[in-house]
Amino acid sequence: MGDDTAVGYRHRKVGAQELNPETLMMGFGYDPRLSEGALKCPIFHTSTFVFESAEAGKAYFELAYGLRERQPSEEAGLIYSRLNNPDLQVLEERLCIWDRAESGLVFSSGMSAITTTLLSYLRPGDVVLHSSPGYGGTDYLPHHGLPEFGITRAGSRAGHSAALEQGFAAARAAGRLRVICLEPPANPTNALVDIARCAELARSATDATGERPLVVVDNTFLGPLWQRPFEHGADLVLYSLTKYVGGHSDLIAGACLGPESLIAPVRTTRTIFGTMCDPMTGWLVLRSLETLKLRMTSSLKNARYVAEYLRTHPKVRTVHYLPFLPPDSPDGALYQKQCLGAGSTFSFEVQGGEAEAFRLLNALQVVKLAVSLGGTESLAEHPASMTHSDVPPEERAELGVSAALVRISVGIENPDDVIADLAQALEQV
Ligand SMILES: Cc1ncc(COP(=O)(O)O)c(C=O)c1O
Repeated sequence: MGDDTAVGYRHRKVGAQELNPETLMMGFGYDPRLSEGALKCPIFHTSTFVFESAEAGKAYFELAYGLRERQPSEEAGLIYSRLNNPDLQVLEERLCIWDRAESGLVFSSGMSAITTTLLSYLRPGDVVLHSSPGYGGTDYLPHHGLPEFGITRAGSRAGHSAALEQGFAAARAAGRLRVICLEPPANPTNALVDIARCAELARSATDATGERPLVVVDNTFLGPLWQRPFEHGADLVLYSLTKYVGGHSDLIAGACLGPESLIAPVRTTRTIFGTMCDPMTGWLVLRSLETLKLRMTSSLKNARYVAEYLRTHPKVRTVHYLPFLPPDSPDGALYQKQCLGAGSTFSFEVQGGEAEAFRLLNALQVVKLAVSLGGTESLAEHPASMTHSDVPPEERAELGVSAALVRISVGIENPDDVIADLAQALEQV
């Protein structure tokens, strides 16, 4: 929403200075002249938009439904909030800035971004290769949801390069490998997957028609500040905006970013499935984007203090925090190559099992016992019995999601208070 005139709102430069994403988050893509001069983009709480003429309405539909090419300088007109809405358009443009993506779409949840994107590309007989562990909902899809549509799966354990090659071979043997779905670092163990290697494998599977599997990366844990999957060869990047981008644990939303050629089919599916984000939520995410860098930088620093504290605690067995990986180990080297920072969500094992983990969780006072992550406040949960409880127990054990594992998302409180809280709770273990 806006234009590219001399006082336009899509300028990325001042003089020779290339503007940084955190600066562009304040105004990019929004033209106050279209909204009575309002400094902030208002909430366009409307289901439909009035056309200035029948001819204009016809032209807008032609573009929205891909019935003809867009003319140079022709703007896509506003039609109906399931198709487009100013809050969502401004939000999509701003999200693209962080990941340097050409196009983006916002959804009603991270899960609707994932399902809408996958169902835009997968067809009966296709195979999806996915990394494990992953968020429980995402993991459910290839195991239980997609097989109902004749789509099969092959898994690849994160943190093991040999497993990636084996998973790739198994997926290709099973049928047409269409999508490689990755979630590095893995929820909840922080195990990594090499995005660049996946992109190489995908290219090696190009068929005679030039088609190849798509590499789709869920960048919720580190992005967009601490990992840029497109720079490593990803085709599409997904987000649960509910987490760091929304950042206040008060909304549910998702996004898919990528080149317009790959986003266009997903846009059509979103229009038909009706999985778009609503204007109010879109507006809240716009507001959150203004402080994204501040919040993610602060929580990253706090997480470092908390992880260092836990590492030395006698009642803590292991801390799965990325900077603790030996730099000369394969995962340590991958962390250096692929990530720009460790984020603030990681897991640790207490001495003992479920009973000890529960004692810790029940004693927390500052850190809240809740699933989710990436909010201003610190949250802790028990993956084996909560977020990952629908993963079969044998598989959980193999993936390192033990009964003693606790996941923490460190927020932006004073880290001394979070550490004091963990200290008193660990006394109960
Ligand atoms: C990595 C990851 N992706 C996707 C999702 C799903 O997002 P949402 O809850 O917004 O649907 C989650 C939720 O926890 C997640 O952790």
